[in-house]
Formats: sequence, structure tokens, C-alpha cells
Amino acid sequence: MIKRLALAFASLTALLVVSNAPAQFPGMSSSKHYAWSDKSLSPDARADMVIKEMTLDEKIQLLHGPGWGVLMSSAPESGPLTRAISVLGFIPGIPRLGVPDLQMTDSNQGVSMAGTKGRYATALPSDEAMAAAWDPALSYEIGTMIGHEVRALGFNMSLGSGINMIREPRNGRTFEYKGEDPLLAGTLAGQELKAEKALHIITDLKHYAVNDQDAGRIVVNSIISKRAMQESDLLAFQIALRDSDAGAFMCSYNRINGIYACENPYTLTDVLKKQFGFRGFVVSDWGGTQSTVAAAKAGLDMEMPGNDSFGAPLKKAVESGEVPMDRLNDMVHRILRTEFDSGIFDDPPQQDAPDVLKGLEVAQKTEEHGIVLLKNSAGQLPLNAGAIKSIAVIGGHADAGVISGGGSSQVSPAGGNAVPPPPEMARNPLAFFLLPVYHRSVPLKGIEAKAPHAAVKFDPGTDPAAAAALAKSSDVAIVFAVQHESEGMDLKTIALPDKQDALIEAVAAANPHTIVVVESGGAVLMPWIDKVAAIVEAWFPGIRGSEAIANVLFGQVNPSGKLPITFPKSEADLPHPTHIDPPKADATHVVPKLPGAPGPVGMMMGIAPPFDANYDEGLKVGYKWYDAEKKPVLFPFGYGLSYTTYAYSGLKVTPGDSTEVSFTVKNTGKRAGSEIAQVYASLPDSAGEPPNRLVGWTKIDLAPGESKQVTVPVTRERLQIFDEASDSWKLVSGQYTLRVGASSRDLPLHQSVSF
Ligand code: BGC
Repeated sequence: MIKRLALAFASLTALLVVSNAPAQFPGMSSSKHYAWSDKSLSPDARADMVIKEMTLDEKIQLLHGPGWGVLMSSAPESGPLTRAISVLGFIPGIPRLGVPDLQMTDSNQGVSMAGTKGRYATALPSDEAMAAAWDPALSYEIGTMIGHEVRALGFNMSLGSGINMIREPRNGRTFEYKGEDPLLAGTLAGQELKAEKALHIITDLKHYAVNDQDAGRIVVNSIISKRAMQESDLLAFQIALRDSDAGAFMCSYNRINGIYACENPYTLTDVLKKQFGFRGFVVSDWGGTQSTVAAAKAGLDMEMPGNDSFGAPLKKAVESGEVPMDRLNDMVHRILRTEFDSGIFDDPPQQDAPDVLKGLEVAQKTEEHGIVLLKNSAGQLPLNAGAIKSIAVIGGHADAGVISGGGSSQVSPAGGNAVPPPPEMARNPLAFFLLPVYHRSVPLKGIEAKAPHAAVKFDPGTDPAAAAALAKSSDVAIVFAVQHESEGMDLKTIALPDKQDALIEAVAAANPHTIVVVESGGAVLMPWIDKVAAIVEAWFPGIRGSEAIANVLFGQVNPSGKLPITFPKSEADLPHPTHIDPPKADATHVVPKLPGAPGPVGMMMGIAPPFDANYDEGLKVGYKWYDAEKKPVLFPFGYGLSYTTYAYSGLKVTPGDSTEVSFTVKNTGKRAGSEIAQVYASLPDSAGEPPNRLVGWTKIDLAPGESKQVTVPVTRERLQIFDEASDSWKLVSGQYTLRVGASSRDLPLHQSVSF
């Protein structure tokens, strides 16, 4: 238990709130005019004007989140911290200069923890569901919704999107990330944050970088080659930054090749600031700062609570000259220019009621677009409500709600957790990490509403024999299978927990019309795959999950989602068949007591001796691994069925700076649908790449019988490799094969071109 608490510790910070936050938040007061109020000046010029007026103490104040001591004592009664909505995500501004407070909130799947402040925010489906929609326009809509709620709740900085690659599918934060491909994840995050920025909030990309497992996250050393990092993990960030012009990057807890991510000159300065041209600021993950001078010199600009390296210690280091004044001014400049550039100076948020109805609409739309139909034997789905007389709904607390992912991204469940924790955990804020939270969108009710003339009965699934008996006496059995995930706790296995496999086997043996709806953060194993009639992947479905799931089950929505991650057949096929667990902690691995921290919490930080996670699969992330190793999979990356069918023809590839890939997709079935058509490239052998990489895609709406010709542009950079010798990207000369089709393993069209 202590270990689990330890792993969850750093994000506990996100839970602490101050209740007496003001209704309006300090920004540039419209009545007060400063020289830098002039909006016609550039953000850089405005920032420099402010810096000239600042004292050293004021500069230091902007670089250091002061919440730690408060977490360890009690809510402040006076001083700037009383203005904080959440003291742990707060940087006090400088009222005399009109510099606003920074009020930060986690926001991956909506504004997190609003309920702890007595407020409401929309619980969106998980990031994996958003990614399964492969829909940049939808991601922009999601960003707009999140951005409005961030502002309505008084915040001016959002702490999301997360785009770590899924190198370890048992990572407890898989649900917070956008899949295993850098182009897909980066593109979608880019649109989401572009939309948020347009609403005048500071946006943030995280967790930079190679933070691919959460167990032992503050001691793990991610070992990875520069080339593998550049072509996958870092590329996702580069694409998202290019498309969104995000204001902040959150450096992660882990080490990268021996150096902590928050003091890593290669990732922070050489890559992010120089190679990517990032003009915003680097903010540490909570408790992610491990040094003062090294971190400041390597490129960290702002420390958030958990450690205390950038308050008094930074001032001392500047006074002694260890951290040059120029670097200090650069840190402050980056923060202020981002405040001007994002618009939080000129257009501070005003608290308001969130647009609840809009949020519900976006949540449902996201889930409807993100659900993936994995199996549908003999047209089992959609269900014909008119013909079915009885339905057994089994398991997964489907009579109460839909499950969600835990940790700092947890959106408060409206009306409380639909599956309340045991009394001893009820008041424990860590319940958000340790126990699943269910949103009150009830699948059973969704199904009842669709089949008003059928007898719909529920069985909790705790006794397979009882569930099988109900299934046997019903026309159709729908089993809800759940796999909880949370920050701070990796999964031991991606197999379904709590004997759910046995439950599904028993129900399937009793009724050939068994449908399994999986609510999970990522891939799960399906030993029963051949025994059930249909499988629907619903991810963590969000506040309108039941409506969306019912719409898919009964055919009001034709599923169009495709997998953003591979579902392996067995964990033996993973690059790392067993999870890389942290070594056992002993007394020597306790970090010193932190300022204001009582002993036990200090101990929680020192969870284990340092250890390595050697990502020796390198370039072969996700589908690239299974393709290169010629391993069969349960469901490949990019896969998803529909209630209609599609045919691909007429590929024409016109090479150039942007290679034009044209082809025709026809809806060969009887229903309207949307097909996500994917383009992959095989590079010349001499490039030494995995067999295929995703280089583009498009989503096509098609009426029954309709054909459309589409063109997917593939820019030259999508075909390049990172050359370690010259430390740059290059196009290898030779033959490139462009492949087109419905998934990474269903690519009927191909044409070769030379560069
Ligand atoms: C998480 C971050 C989060 C931060 C603030 C950390 O523990 O890793 O993702 O933004 O807490 O809540």
C-alpha cells in the first residue's frame, strides 16, 4: 500500500485546493495602463519592457511554484496564495506590474478535479478514444470545449495534452496518451492545443520525454538511442508544437540516458529550444526538479512544487554567478512572452458557468467517433431492437456508470463516484488514484432506452454461473469488461482483471450472441476472442459514454474509429514481455526530508533505487515492432470495422517535395459510413527502418455505393530518417513504396517511387 501511495504521491499535489479563490483573477487591469499594455508591440518586446522593471525577487517568484509548503501545512490565510484556485498549480503574478497570476489545471480529458472546488467540468472520453477518431477537426473541437471550461473555471493555463509513445502498454497512463504513432499523436494534440490557445490560455505538452512507464517514474532511467527518440518520442512533440505553438513543455520525472529530463541539456536546449525553435517555457513536472544550477543551465525555466530548487536556491545561484543573469532573464522572458503571446495578459479569464450542454455534446461525439468495432461475426451488430425480446447486461458496473482513468487527470464525477469507494477510503483524496471512478452515464439505461419492448436484465458478473444462466435465458448477452488504469500505478498485466475472462467464457458458452464491450485505457488480451460474436472497444467512455455505446450497439451510429495502438495476442510478443519493475526500496533510498514535509511523505518520494528501462526496441515502437518481428497480432494498429464495407482502388503516387498520394475509396455496403484511409511508407532497405511507417491519412464520409477520390499529401520530412552522424534529418536515396489501405496490416494498394 505504501508503495502505491508513493507512486501516486507527486500528483496528490493536484488535489490541494484553496476554497476562498476570488471570482475574478488578476490579469492586466483594463483601467491601468502600462507601457507594455500596447498590443501592437511584439510579445518579445513587451516581455523585455517588463523585465527591465523587475527586481531579482520578482524574477525568482515567477520561476517557482510555491505550493509545496502549503500542501504540507494548511491552506494559507493571507498573502498571494489566497488567490490560488489550486495552490499546487499556481505562480503568483506581480500586481504592481500587471503580471497575472498563473492558475494551472490538468486538462487531458477535461478540467480535472473541479469537484474538489465544488465546480463541474465535462468528463471527456480518454485520450486513447480521442486518438481512435483519427480526426484533427474533432480534436480542435475538443480543444475548444476544454479551453472554454478552463477559462470558465478561472484558470489561464492548461496542463495537457499528453503524447508519450506507448513503449510499455502496461503504463498506467496509457489512457492519457494519444497512441503509439508520433504523426497521429502529434497531429491530434497539435489541433487540440491550437484551439485552446485561440481562446487565450497557455497550453502545455507533456511529459517531455521518454516517460513511458509510471512505476518508479522518479528513479527510472530511460535508455534510448538519439535516432529512436528523434523519430518517435520527440517527433510527436515536434509535430504538436509546430501545429499548436504551445506555450509550455512539461519535462518529465525520469532520466533520459542517465540525465534527468528536467536537467537534460540535449532534450531541453539542443532539441526543444534550438532544433524545434521553441520560444515558450519549460515547466517541471510536480516534484520533477532534481537540481538548481544544472536544471537552470540545461533549459528548465519554471519549477513546480515537490522539490525546492528554484526558490531561494536559484536566487543564491544567480547572486553567486553560478547561474548567469542572462539565463535568468531568458527564463523570465520566456514566461512573460508566453503570457503576452497567449493573450492571458490582455484577456484574462472571468469565472462563469461552464457550457454543460456543449460539453455533453462534445463528450458524446468524441466517444461515438472513438469507439472501435473489433469483431462482428455474422452481422451480430447492430442489434435489431424490434426483434430482440430479452437482453442480458452483465458486469462492469454497467448498472451504475462507466469507468474512468485515475490520477491528476481525473475529471470529478458529477454527483460523485457511481461506484462509491469503501467507507474507509471515502474521504481519502488518494482514492482518485487507487480506486476506479465511475461516471454516472449508465450503460444499462442506455440499452433499455434503445429496446423499450425487450426485457433487459442486469447481472453484476461476480458469479459466472449466475451470469451464464441469465445469458442462456436471453436473446442477447452484452458483457461489459473493465480494466482500470491510473497515474502512479502501472498494470501488472494487460489481461482483464478480476476473473473477467472466465466470466466472458462462461457467458459466451451459454449464449452464442454474446457481445463484449471493453472499457479500458489501452490494449487488453482476449483469450475468448473466438467464442464471442462481437467486440466493441469503448475505452474510458466519458460522461456520455452510455449514450454513445448504445448508439453504436443499436446502429444509430455506424462505428468508424480505428485503433491508435496495437492489440497484441500475448504479452510474450511485447518488446518487453515482462514489465520493468523498480527494484525494492530500502532505507537508503529515502530522499532527505523536504521543506515542510513530515517524514512519511518525504519517505514516499524515495521509492526505489535507480533502475534502467532499456528501450532497445528503438525505432520499432508499437506496430513497427510487430511488423519488423513478423509477429501476428490480435488487432493491428489502424484497424476498425464498420457496419458497411469499403473498397480501395486507383492508386496514383506523384513524387515531389510533397508527394501526392491519390486513390479512390468506395462504400460497397448498404449504410453510410466514414472510412479512415491510411497511407504508409516503406523506406529503402539502406535506411534501416521498420517495414512501414504511417505518413498520412484522411477520413472520408461515404453514402452507400458512393466513391470518392482523395489525395493525401506526404511531405518530404515524413519520409526522412534521423542521421546520428550528422545530427540531422536526411532523405535516403532509393526506392520508396507508398501503401494505402484500411489498417497497418490491410494495405491493398501500393506504388513505388524513387527519390
Ligand atoms: C503529473 C502531471 C500533472 C501534475 C500536476 C503530476 O504528477 O505527472 O501530469 O500535470 O502532476 O497535477
